[in-house]
Parts: sequence; structure tokens; C-alpha cells
Amino acid sequence: MEMYRRTFAEINLDHLAHNIRVLQKSFPQTPFLCPMVKANAYGHGDVQLARFLETLGIEHLGVCLIEEGLLLRNFGVKAEILVFRGFDREGAEKIIQYHMTPVVSTWEQIEHLEAAASSPVGIHLKFDTGMNRLGFRPEEAQKLFERLWQNKKVRLKALVTHLFNGEDALDPQGQSAAQLRALHGVSQIFKPFNIFCHALNSAGIISWLSLQRQGATPSHPLNLQNWGLRPGLMIYGYNPLGDKGVVDLKPVMSLKSQVGTYRILKTGETVSYGGTWRAAKESVIAVVPIGYADGYHRILSNQAFVVFTGQRVPVVGSICMDYLMLDVTDVVQGRDLKEFKDQEVTLFGYGSDGSFLSAEELARQAQSITWEMLTSVGERVPRIYTGQDAGFISEEIGGE
Ligand SMILES: Cc1ncc(COP(=O)(O)O)c(C=O)c1O
Repeated sequence: MEMYRRTFAEINLDHLAHNIRVLQKSFPQTPFLCPMVKANAYGHGDVQLARFLETLGIEHLGVCLIEEGLLLRNFGVKAEILVFRGFDREGAEKIIQYHMTPVVSTWEQIEHLEAAASSPVGIHLKFDTGMNRLGFRPEEAQKLFERLWQNKKVRLKALVTHLFNGEDALDPQGQSAAQLRALHGVSQIFKPFNIFCHALNSAGIISWLSLQRQGATPSHPLNLQNWGLRPGLMIYGYNPLGDKGVVDLKPVMSLKSQVGTYRILKTGETVSYGGTWRAAKESVIAVVPIGYADGYHRILSNQAFVVFTGQRVPVVGSICMDYLMLDVTDVVQGRDLKEFKDQEVTLFGYGSDGSFLSAEELARQAQSITWEMLTSVGERVPRIYTGQDAGFISEEIGGE
């Protein structure tokens, strides 16, 4: 891999394997453990992660776009690929040709599949139980049953819904509980089919783990026997509920760079566009080659901290497209700047010195969410795979 700028995202496959094992051990009976690898596997590299997940025994993968599924197939991914976004007639043909499983949300999509299929195509049927985005209304279930029962072209495999407030899943009177009850109700209509249901994202899954720890509450709507799971954020090492006690997850991505140059500022001089930061004393500024075009949000200007020699130092001045600046005055004080040549900077994740800065904390400072911080990491930032099985990725995909 050519890399003349030492700015990269380090992807720790051991941590990913750890997070997956947590799920596999906690839910050995689930019929469907479907890590979400859409949006370039939340920024971690979809082909690489999909191939690696297969080696961990993962048999189902979730994407949003047909294009994402095609990419995985073209790189030899064999797992069942669920495509969550809708499709037209042309899309139906691609889905069938590449042996993907569509998540069907409209009557037209059923027609497209029937028109395109020469042999029965397996589908998951999506119900809108409150998100108000995609899916059939529960009231349509009976008509759908009649449409699909003994259908020669379309074979129903599962029912799906999506929690819009998974964070409340532990509350038996909450919105998630109502959604789970609604899908359970729908599943009763489809009982003659040999199907299962899936609804839980990371927040729902971790809530369920929490419920299991609390002991038997068989009537709780989260007690889902034979339901599938669709973890996203948690496999990448972050817990949307923030409660570290429930589950031990390890962040997979670390965003890193190296100081390019240092500038010594006199009192009163300013840094970067608009001069939004002014030196209150003689200051040492480190210039780091990563900017908003790499996914480090501009809103973090004069807000965030990064790790430099194991210590937190502030980002000062406006973040540029390709650079950001740090005030390292207090850290380098009294020392020769040559000692800090090419110094590593950790934007989030683990530093080589063992320090850790959470993408979740950065997301809060950016008035965003962890999902956005991870998926924003730009295309021009190389992903470097580490961990025991990193060699596998290089050999299989042709990376270095
Ligand atoms: C349909 C669907 N299922 C599951 C997930 C995973 O969600 P999370 O990353 O919160 O676990 C997503 C993510 O947006 C999704 O769109």
C-alpha cells in the first residue's frame, strides 16, 4: 500500500473477533446472527471485514445497497447477504443473479421479484412498527399472508422490524417493547410458514443481555426465543447504552496521524483560517495532516482533544480540509522539538503508548453520534489491519 502521508485508520481484527465471540457465546441458539457491514462496514472496510467475519463462522451479513452486496460477492464473500434497501425491477434481477436475500418492504417489490425469478427466491418481509420509514403496516399482514402462501416465485423466510428507540428496550412499557409485541403479533398470522423474526440492533441486544443478567422475567417482550440479531455498532466496539458493566466490547478502529511540522507562535499570533485561536503566550503548534476531508469534523475546531505523547492536547484554530493544529506548548516545554519529530497523534482509539480516546466522546463534542464518527472516516484514509489474522486480509484481498 502506498502511503506518503502517515494518516491512517488502524483496524484491530482481534478486537472485532472478541466482540463477535461475545455475541456468539451469549446467543448460541440464535438462528440468525447478522452483523451489519453496510456503509463500508461502518467505515472499517467492508470486503476485508466480511471475509474475516466468515472465518469467525458468521453466515449472514447485512448491507443497505445492492451495490454493497455486489462488491462483497465480487470479492468472493459466500455468506448470505441481506439487502435492506428497496429495489426496482432491475435491482430485483441483480439480487437474484448474485444470490442475495432482499428485505421486502412494498407490494411492488414482490411483483419485481416474481417477474425476475425463475426459481423461488427467499425473502425477509419488513414491517413498520413505529419507525415510520420503510415496511408494511401490521394491518397488511393477512393480505400478505394470502399473497405469499404457496407462492411459486417468492419464499418467505423471516419477518423484520427495526427499533427506533432501542435504548428503551429494557422498559416493558417502552416503545421498543411495543414494537416487539407488534412484530410478534404479525408472526402469529404467518405461523404456517417456517419462519423466524429479527428486530434487535445493538441497543436492543445489549438490553436483552442486561435482562438475562437480571434473571428470569419470561413475560418481558425482550425474551425472544428463536429470534435473529442484527448488531451494528457493538461489533465495532461501542455500546450505545454506555453501560460498560453489561458487556465487554473492544473498539476496533483507531484513527491516527503523525505531526508534519511545528510552528513557534509569538503572543497574540493566530492559527488557521479566520484566526479563531490566538496565542495567549509564546506557543508551540503542531500541524497534523488530517482534516475534515478525512472525516475529522470541522465542528471540532477549538473543541476537541487528541492524544500526543500519551497526553491530551487541544485542537486549536479552524480545522482545514487537509490539516488540523494542536497546541502542544505545555507538553514540549523545555525540550528539543527534534525529540517530537514524526510524533504519533491519536484522533480516537488506541495510541501506541496504550492510551485510549473514545470515538463516543468525540461524537458528543461534535454534536454527533458514534455511528457518524466511524462512518465519516474518509475514503482517502488507508485502513491498516492489525491483529493475529491481519496477514489473512492482505493475502486474500491483496492489501498490505
Ligand atoms: C435495519 C438495521 N438493522 C440493524 C442496524 C444496526 O444498528 P446498530 O448499529 O445500532 O446496532 C441498522 C443500523 O442502522 C439497521 O439499519
